[in-house]
Amino acid sequence: MKVTSTDVRNKIKCRELFGNHNDASYLCSMQILDGKKAAQAIKDELKIEVARMAVEGKKAPHLVAILVGNNGASETYVASKVRACEEVGFKSTLIRFEETVYKIRLLEEIEKLNNDPDVDGILVQLPLPKHISNEDVIKAIHPDKDVDGFHPVNAGKMIQGIPSFIPATPYGIMLLLEHYKVETEGKHAVVIGRSNIVGRPISILLSSNSNPGNCTVTICHSHTHNLKEICLSADIIVAALGKPETVKADMVKEGAAVIDVGITRVPDATKKSGFKLKGDVAFETVAPKCSWITPVPGGVGPMTIAALLKNTFHSCKMKN
Ligand code: GUN
Repeated sequence: MKVTSTDVRNKIKCRELFGNHNDASYLCSMQILDGKKAAQAIKDELKIEVARMAVEGKKAPHLVAILVGNNGASETYVASKVRACEEVGFKSTLIRFEETVYKIRLLEEIEKLNNDPDVDGILVQLPLPKHISNEDVIKAIHPDKDVDGFHPVNAGKMIQGIPSFIPATPYGIMLLLEHYKVETEGKHAVVIGRSNIVGRPISILLSSNSNPGNCTVTICHSHTHNLKEICLSADIIVAALGKPETVKADMVKEGAAVIDVGITRVPDATKKSGFKLKGDVAFETVAPKCSWITPVPGGVGPMTIAALLKNTFHSCKMKN
């Protein structure tokens, strides 16, 4: 029997559909890690904190986003970040540059923002055009304003367990696991993907001595042999490779928790936008096997933004 995403999302009458068949037992207990809801809870808390700061005569946190060129996905992400700032009462500024901007011009702007006491957080939306080195731009942001947590100083601190800005997507995943009290202690977590933005940092966070955390972590990547076998031994899978529907049902153990970080635009003529968003996990067939799963959209995405807001808030607090 085909299980549609609507069936899964609403967890409707699964016992009616499947009776007590073993394969369906996890569908009955499967729960959605609803990133929209969890992110809203975080935003509601931040809103209250910002209002309290205003009463105390303190300024609102201020995030500056830099967008180079007009990549459609980046435009959407940055617009969501700016909108979220407005929602919680932060100040936000969007600075745009042409695709052809010289790196030196970008670095000058970052230096200005580094020295502006009104600015608490600076983010440069990635990817940048090919002629500009991501590393050079990231290193130019002052570590105390690096709310993306990409600066080597913040990455190094995170590895050593020193408080620092944690990259928004992995931080958002940890907040989501915390919100839903997903058990991680002693579990085998398999992270697919080794990017500096998601794969590497989430592997460090999941293996750290914390709750959530204390996992035994395996990192898989494009050169990994036996991906399927490794995934089948996972209690937790974090799919962050950016290839739609790579994680299939036959790669997932019954009762696993699955976190889907993928969000690829796939052409779809039936949509007004001309595309639909696809995760790295084949949701409809994987979900019935899971204890927990994130939807795409509405899972990790909103949590990334909530985590960015939290970083910006803490940056502001530290300065005042
Ligand atoms: N591009 C993809 N994810 C991110 C992110 O978390 N921050 C920035 N700045 N760019 C990104």
